[in-house]
Amino acid sequence: MSLAHKKIILGVTGGIAAYKTAELCRLLVKAGAEVRVVMTAAAQQFVTPLTFQALSGQPVLTSLWDAASGDGMAHIHLSRDADLLLVAPASADFMAKLAEGRADDLLSTLCLARTCRLAVAPAMNREMWAAAPTRRNLGQLRGDGVTVLGPVAGEQACGESGLGRMLEPAEILAALPGLLGAGPLAGRRVVVTAGPTFEPIDPVRGLTNLSSGKMGYALAQAAAEAGAEVCLVSGPTCLAAPARVRRVDVRSAAEMHDAVLRELPADVFIAVAAVADYRVEAAATQKIKKSAAGLTLQLVPNPDILAEVSALPDAPFCVGFAAETEQLAERAEAKRQRKKLPLLVGNLAQDTLGQDTAELVLFDDQGLHPLPRADKLAQARALVSHLVNLLN
Ligand code: C5P
Repeated sequence: MSLAHKKIILGVTGGIAAYKTAELCRLLVKAGAEVRVVMTAAAQQFVTPLTFQALSGQPVLTSLWDAASGDGMAHIHLSRDADLLLVAPASADFMAKLAEGRADDLLSTLCLARTCRLAVAPAMNREMWAAAPTRRNLGQLRGDGVTVLGPVAGEQACGESGLGRMLEPAEILAALPGLLGAGPLAGRRVVVTAGPTFEPIDPVRGLTNLSSGKMGYALAQAAAEAGAEVCLVSGPTCLAAPARVRRVDVRSAAEMHDAVLRELPADVFIAVAAVADYRVEAAATQKIKKSAAGLTLQLVPNPDILAEVSALPDAPFCVGFAAETEQLAERAEAKRQRKKLPLLVGNLAQDTLGQDTAELVLFDDQGLHPLPRADKLAQARALVSHLVNLLN
């Protein structure tokens, strides 16, 4: 990945994850970015400025009152010049400061005076992350257009385990080309469907499919990382939308169908959703009472969203998924031909559903390309880079 000539201000606040930011700094420099590091006073309790000076090859800025920073206007000049201000780790305290718009040290002043995009990678104890004030601040920051990268769940320095770990440096790096408009899908619009659909029987019952939404959400993330403007049309899942992805929530196949058509035209359409093949012809408006006589439901077919989109005169580049329980290659290729798709992704349903990893096979005009088992985000990134090759 290249971040050649991108000017990045790397803000470091006080948290133990600051030691990982040293690695992030190294990766940014290796990717070609020009990095200026700004540290808060608390950050310097964890890592010394000298570490970052050695890694970035530039003096580290630590004070609003530093005579070395020329006319005393560093807080304005620095961010005017930058492509991105990235704060990693962003402590709970720093997030609160940002949300309130306070400016009592160099980094917070830079954030307030900036004209470039701001991204933060929060890191904190899980209770701090879950606390109501942090939730409020997070909502405020998102509303202010700040990109929030992570955090993720896992072991924490305090010995506890939960949500609050900073994203690994390589994961933060992966998000940057998209943020900087430097990815291979920059300027392209991608629509992704994900999750199951829910077809009502009556106000409290329904028919659905097994689907966690993990693969679709990972693809939306990978497409956003590649620079695309991504709309994720999602059936009911318990996942959060990835950074820079606009999510449209739907419930039934009919709603998903209408939402997808509203989002067109697009350059790419990736249908990952496990759309229910049938819906109840006339869902009851009142709860159906239990009866010893049983219940017969009249089902009618749902529209095939993918087939309909791929048949449009100005069809996007369409990618389908096929979850089969047997004869994967034959059935997947047959489905690709039937739905007239340039690319179809096959997997064995029993090996993939609800899991964090997947083994995939890509089918295109050139034949078949296996992607050996890996976590779904890694698979999604591989799939997006295959798609980019086909698009070009
Ligand atoms: O269900 P089926 O195996 O035909 O699904 C293949 C592909 O078609 C998947 O990508 C799925 O998201 C899409 N599909 C759709 N609308 C449907 C059924 C499937 O978009 N009604």
